[in-house]
Amino acid sequence: MTQRVRVLFVCLGNICRSPSAEGVFRALVTESGLADRIEIDSCGTGHWHIGKAPDARAAQAARKRGVDISNLRARQFAAHDLDNFDYVLVMDRQNLSDVTDVWRQNGGTRPALFLSYGRSTHQEVPDPYYGGEEGFEFVLDLIHEAGEGLLAEIRERLA
Ligand code: 4NP
Repeated sequence: MTQRVRVLFVCLGNICRSPSAEGVFRALVTESGLADRIEIDSCGTGHWHIGKAPDARAAQAARKRGVDISNLRARQFAAHDLDNFDYVLVMDRQNLSDVTDVWRQNGGTRPALFLSYGRSTHQEVPDPYYGGEEGFEFVLDLIHEAGEGLLAEIRERLA
């Protein structure tokens, strides 16, 4: 039996942090040879950007690291996501609060902070939307490191 693991990244708008996490994690998974075992998606708790491509600054920062996220389109988080994904990983405490409210009603996979898989002291991926380009670089640094930790855990689970 080929077991598959499903990972969902969640932020507010689904145009900066979570599509970046989706793209970076997909690149790590592909490099590791586990692309056919791990499904990856992202969404936002807010509705404002549904159907939109990632923020141009996020796409540019990712492209500089060899990751193309330009084909992703924003969608909104829904309660059934908690039934469909094995990992629901949120970027900050506000996302955690919002998704945990839904989890209390719905059950399913309990959301967790994505950076709980990282080694740094940062617990949240800060929202880069209203800041400068360096904010997008910092987002990529944080999610790359946490992505490596997450992949190590999933690799054990699949072994
Ligand atoms: P994200 O960033 O949650 O990382 O996609 C944001 C994008 C848009 C907004 C806020 C955060 N906004 O308020 O429109």
